[in-house]
Amino acid sequence: MSSIIDAVASGRADGSADARADVPAGTSGHPVIELGARVAGLDPAALTRDHGSPLFVYDLDVVAARVRMLRGALPPGVDLAYAVKSNPCPAVLRHLAGLGVGADIASAGELSAVTRAGFDLRSVVFTGPGKTDAEIAAAVRANVRAVTIESVEEVDVLLDLASVAPRHQGLMLRLATPATGAETTPIIGGAGAAKFGLLPDEADEVLDRLRLAGAIGAPGSAYRVVGVHAFGASNVRDAQPLIEHVAWLTERATDLATRHGLALTMLDAGGGLGIPYADDETPLDVRTLGDGLARVLDGWRARPALAGARLLFEPGRFLVGPAGAYLMRVIRTKQRDGRTLAVTDGGIHHVLRPALVGDPHRIVAVGEAAGRDEPTPSAVVGPLCTGLDMLSEAVELPAPRAGDLLAVRDVGAYGFTESMPLFLSHPVPAEIVVRSGVARVARLRQEAGGGTAAIW
Ligand SMILES: Cc1ncc(COP(=O)(O)O)c(C=O)c1O
Repeated sequence: MSSIIDAVASGRADGSADARADVPAGTSGHPVIELGARVAGLDPAALTRDHGSPLFVYDLDVVAARVRMLRGALPPGVDLAYAVKSNPCPAVLRHLAGLGVGADIASAGELSAVTRAGFDLRSVVFTGPGKTDAEIAAAVRANVRAVTIESVEEVDVLLDLASVAPRHQGLMLRLATPATGAETTPIIGGAGAAKFGLLPDEADEVLDRLRLAGAIGAPGSAYRVVGVHAFGASNVRDAQPLIEHVAWLTERATDLATRHGLALTMLDAGGGLGIPYADDETPLDVRTLGDGLARVLDGWRARPALAGARLLFEPGRFLVGPAGAYLMRVIRTKQRDGRTLAVTDGGIHHVLRPALVGDPHRIVAVGEAAGRDEPTPSAVVGPLCTGLDMLSEAVELPAPRAGDLLAVRDVGAYGFTESMPLFLSHPVPAEIVVRSGVARVARLRQEAGGGTAAIW
């Protein structure tokens, strides 16, 4: 059942059925949502009049263009599974399912979301450090392409399920990457999170236990180990560490598979393909990534354990981040410390990432204000009663005034889904998707805010 409600198309509505081929390229040269006098080809004043402010807008043509660009650059042995956590908006999921992309899920909720959205469950992988027994059972019953084992204790759950598992249900082993403290490596840095994946001796133990129990390796066994998974690092915009991560995974998977007599069909390198969040950040060079991966994949042919394997990436941010924008209206302005402070109706209750990771998103004026030629040092703050509610400390905007519309860029991933919309009981914004110039409501605005939803 579709949750999309056809809405009055705001602004341009040419009704053409085909995805636009003319999506704008950002300063990065990669497809991004149009943000200027028009937003995704539509009048932002009309959009916010019809759907309220603040408002999330996702341009599905940009998503499609980004999928095309990535696929076009990667070698033929690479598959994509969209990381649902980055944006689980049902309309976005349906669009990606329609493009033939697989999915990476991390909860039973995401399993139902991808099932409803029409993803082929044989292209769905289920990964996560805290999968409950019931969630593992649901994924096994759904017969997803692979359930990823992240801890030795999950073996007990899988053995309990062996009698109900469809024969040869796929399993993957997630390896703790060097960032988790498992070992040192020159390639992957970042804060380690020890909860992810299996240490080398744990991976051996998992395989030994499954085999001893007859759950893998026998003709009628419940499971089949199809792959090895490892996530490197997040938001990587340099192709080289991504290539080196796949090379590292190649070595580890070959070693494990050879010692345990496995023929793998999939090496899953996780997500992490990055996007620029600032004008001076360069985009991921997808051609260099593709060329480097082609060289690594060529080497697989000489390795019996990997000869029949394909590489899987689980991109979230890269596919949808730059396709989304958060529109908000300036409510008040103040002059503070030599800059104009624009207090908006949008804030970190809907776009938490700047406060969470200390990384501001770019903010631009849209609609009428975009044409005003008065560059003014500004700061953008939200309506919440906390000093943390700061969307940008320093941004040049065209002399902000009450009533102006602004847009936060790159919120198509880890935007609304990673936010805290109940805080202060402001309206919960609508999410709209735009395709071929037609806007549709994907999620209705909740006028009263989340605070009134409790039953007593
Ligand atoms: C297992 C897994 N795959 C894929 C992703 C998506 O990463 P990104 O959006 O950076 O591509 C994540 C993000 O946390 C993840 O945990």
